[in-house]
Amino acid sequence: MAKLTEEIDRRRTFAIISHPDAGKTTLTEKLLLFGGAIHIAGAVKSNKIKKTATSDWMEIEKQRGISVATSVMGFNYGDYKINILDTPGHQDFAEDTYRTLTAVDSVIIVVDVAKGVEQQTRKLMEVCRMRNTPVIIFVNKLDREGRDPFEILDELESELKISVRPLSWPINIGAKFKGVYNLYEQTLDLFTPDKQKVSERVEIDSIDDPQIDEAVGEQDAAKLRDDIELINGVYPDFEEKDYLGGKLAPVFFGSALNTFGVKELLDCFVKIAPSPKPVVAQEREVKPEEEQFSGFVFKIHANMDPNHRSCIAFVKVCSGKFERNAPYKHMRSGKIMKFAAPTAFMAQKKNIVDEAFPGDIVGIPDNGNFKIGDTITQGETLHYRGLPSFSPEMFKYIENTDPMKSKQLDKGVQQLMDEGVAQLFTNQFNGRKIIGTVGQLQFEVIQYRLLHEYGAQCRWEPLSLYKACWIESDDAEALNAFKKRKHQFMAIDRDGRDVFLADSNYVLQMAQNDFPKIRFHFSSEY
Ligand code: G4P
Repeated sequence: MAKLTEEIDRRRTFAIISHPDAGKTTLTEKLLLFGGAIHIAGAVKSNKIKKTATSDWMEIEKQRGISVATSVMGFNYGDYKINILDTPGHQDFAEDTYRTLTAVDSVIIVVDVAKGVEQQTRKLMEVCRMRNTPVIIFVNKLDREGRDPFEILDELESELKISVRPLSWPINIGAKFKGVYNLYEQTLDLFTPDKQKVSERVEIDSIDDPQIDEAVGEQDAAKLRDDIELINGVYPDFEEKDYLGGKLAPVFFGSALNTFGVKELLDCFVKIAPSPKPVVAQEREVKPEEEQFSGFVFKIHANMDPNHRSCIAFVKVCSGKFERNAPYKHMRSGKIMKFAAPTAFMAQKKNIVDEAFPGDIVGIPDNGNFKIGDTITQGETLHYRGLPSFSPEMFKYIENTDPMKSKQLDKGVQQLMDEGVAQLFTNQFNGRKIIGTVGQLQFEVIQYRLLHEYGAQCRWEPLSLYKACWIESDDAEALNAFKKRKHQFMAIDRDGRDVFLADSNYVLQMAQNDFPKIRFHFSSEY
């Protein structure tokens, strides 16, 4: 038991999220360098899903295949075991990112100092907010011209709807960038633009130490003191419990490319970031230190090679110790299963593991037994929730173009939905099947995979919808009245739940006004 709690306490499982190009890959790589998991810069980069044009999605898929290796990056840093869960760079796979966020205990958000908060960051933050995920923000690219740091802080607060507290502060930006003052440790780090070298540190007693003037010049030292006074006056003190409750985000400044400010971020991160927390199952809350193993599948990675239709199911260990070859219960099917070749991801290598602890991710080779959201336990009946589907952004009717292959089409669609590639709704009015995605790319992926893996052909028919929302009400009569009035726009999801297909924001607002007894949900987790 002592060992289990020790293992849990030293684990930090998190994801780095950002709008494409803010520097997520670069930061990940630098963290791996510090952890000794890689030895040269550029090692992660080559595995990265580039922001390729739509027509090149096959290339993206190939790279996604490669990226299995980088899906989870585990390494030791001091006494800590760190698991970084990678999230796809391409926004058409945002759904993958949402799900990955259900498997992490905290998040680091990377923001470009010139661009500030961008659209995808805003969306991902919403998911974090839903779950009160603790968030640390890294403002990147200080070596380039950018915006005033105070302005950035204001924007972070208003756009991400979270209180912020700078724990480090830059001395100038761009060509004049001289370094950062670390408010958390009370140290001064001087910037030397070099991609591999770690910065020079000046040991100081306090913000009034004359060494600061010597290091950065009197003028900048005076400005720094003014800034720090302002920060301490305006921003709340850093309270760990507010951070852990997802209410306050500490902010660091630096340059990932120059490995500047990254170690400070990492050192603070391991100290304050949470170890695996209790997870709420439908039946009860499950604590990580419970002896019995339990976990859930948050991601399924398909092999794109049609001759090997195997997948890897990524299981997050929630409680107890996972052991190779032990009999575990697959909750949805009720089957007892043994996993002979579970893999874990350490220092960029995928190895078969004998055991894993809460916070760890194990990859289980699978031939279609698993579905996203499946729970596995040592026997107890548990169903982990918290793998929400969000309203898709794009919708199309799927039509079978080869009547001889309708069975194959159905099976293919079912399996792709199990993998979480997209969402399926059935229109109750005309019985037609609707696929909802977050990006155009997914339609192409689905069509290609249906043909190559299932021998089924389909075509898409445009459908202009604004949102799909799950509806419910305590008043059965009101619910029926709503369904009757909107019968052309009613659908059911794969679990048979009622979904309203709103074709415009206006229609949705009108519906919300006209039917106050109906609750409209924009994610399936309600
Ligand atoms: P992403 O994963 O969030 O999409 O971003 P990524 O790390 O790929 O970084 C996007 C671009 O920004 C890269 O340039 C990267 O080198 C650059 N970058 C990252 N951190 C910094 C920084 O601190 N300062 C500066 N000046 N640039 C930074 P690229 O030209 O797209 O790629 P590459 O050709 O350099 O590999």
